[in-house]
Amino acid sequence: MNRRKFLLGSAASAGLAGAATWINAAPSQKRELTIQPASFRLRTRRTMDMVSLSPDAPPPVLLGRQGKPMQLRVINGTEDYTAMHWHGLRIPNAMDGVPYLTQMPIAGGESFDYEFTPPDAGTYWYHPHCMTMAQMAHGLTGVMVIAEAEDPGFDADQVVNLRDFRLDENDAFLPYSTARGAARSGTFGNVITANWRQAPVYDQPTGGLVRLRLVNSDTTRIYRLYLSADTARIMAWDGHPVEVPVAQPSAQAPLLLGPGQRVDLAVKMPAHEGQTVELLADLPGQPGRVMTQLRAVGRDLARDLRDLKPLPANPVSRPDLAKAEVHDFVFGWTPEGRAPDDGYCGSLGYSFWSINRTPWPGDAARDTGPLATLERGKSYILRLRNESPNLHPIHLHGLAFVPIRSNRRQLPPLMTDTILLLKDEVVEIALVADNPGDWAFHCHVIEHQKTGLAGFLRVT
Ligand code: C2O
Ligand code: CU
Ligand code: CU
Repeated sequence: MNRRKFLLGSAASAGLAGAATWINAAPSQKRELTIQPASFRLRTRRTMDMVSLSPDAPPPVLLGRQGKPMQLRVINGTEDYTAMHWHGLRIPNAMDGVPYLTQMPIAGGESFDYEFTPPDAGTYWYHPHCMTMAQMAHGLTGVMVIAEAEDPGFDADQVVNLRDFRLDENDAFLPYSTARGAARSGTFGNVITANWRQAPVYDQPTGGLVRLRLVNSDTTRIYRLYLSADTARIMAWDGHPVEVPVAQPSAQAPLLLGPGQRVDLAVKMPAHEGQTVELLADLPGQPGRVMTQLRAVGRDLARDLRDLKPLPANPVSRPDLAKAEVHDFVFGWTPEGRAPDDGYCGSLGYSFWSINRTPWPGDAARDTGPLATLERGKSYILRLRNESPNLHPIHLHGLAFVPIRSNRRQLPPLMTDTILLLKDEVVEIALVADNPGDWAFHCHVIEHQKTGLAGFLRVT
């Protein structure tokens, strides 16, 4: 039996997200997504008041194909306002889903048609950008897989959406935000999940090559991750194929994956049926906690990591550093505490954070200009300085960028849309301003974003 046939045979038992076959099936390029109340057993009892795209399941993996148009009608089946953002996709500004900046918020009962053609393959995700904290904390974070134009040769594909929920002893939601948390590292959840389950086990072909797509869609937590096996290789980072060798995460040097970030690992499954590969996270007080397990099933496919060619590069323009103009951004606290004007999109009631010492006046605030105006087609260096003791995953919409220098560490030049700034770190990133529009620029610790650490860059 050839490899493809084996997979077709095993897809049913491996489940929806278990095999490469679903990637090669017709992508869901046209879909209606209804944001709606949901419930789910996250721990012991069914948690009510969740928000998802079906009444009783996590938001689905949305599948598209590089260079193929997608039509996603987002219907708001809740009573709150919303808007959907496609994190990491370099698409036209009007489809970016940022309230008041690129579209008006979607009221309850209304819908918005998002139509775009993803230029890049890789692992991306989606989440609301209006009522962001409320809807994300209650469940609405999903993964988007944009398949390469050609099959890169894995035997299976496994998406793992990592996130926490903040529940009380009856498995009901606790308040998603605290002033204390918002002013520090954010408010952490206490139920740690992968695809909304605790340590789920996924069957994968024995001796096969699995593309493990890890997504941190949490509002707060920075995961420190590694695998129990050393037979793995980082293939892509924040959607984009890695073009330089990067060290494998290990217990001694775990991978830091901040909110909004993704990593694709090629994992060689063990050669004996029943053996497992574990994804482990170092959590405070819980080193090496199992997040998920891949369990070998079936006969040994005897694949080899060296069978894999590098993934084809995405069509991202490379910045010309010699000609790049430099812009400075300082991320820190704010002296004043006025609540941002977020209009219909949910303010947390404080400003604690700022960019360039000015807190974001709010999504709906009038007369708010860009933090910087970039000329279309030109190269830029953005110097990002963290003057706070807290870590900030800084995210830029609509453009991909590459870190070129840090005062604290050797940063591999991996193309990205979200960079984790360490304590007292200054990182320079470079980009080509090749996508016109107003692009949100903010911390992805959502309580930081919603209490001032936000703004936008304009590409004209
Ligand atoms: Cu993932 Cu502005 O967001
Ligand atoms: Cu984004
Ligand atoms: Cu932050």
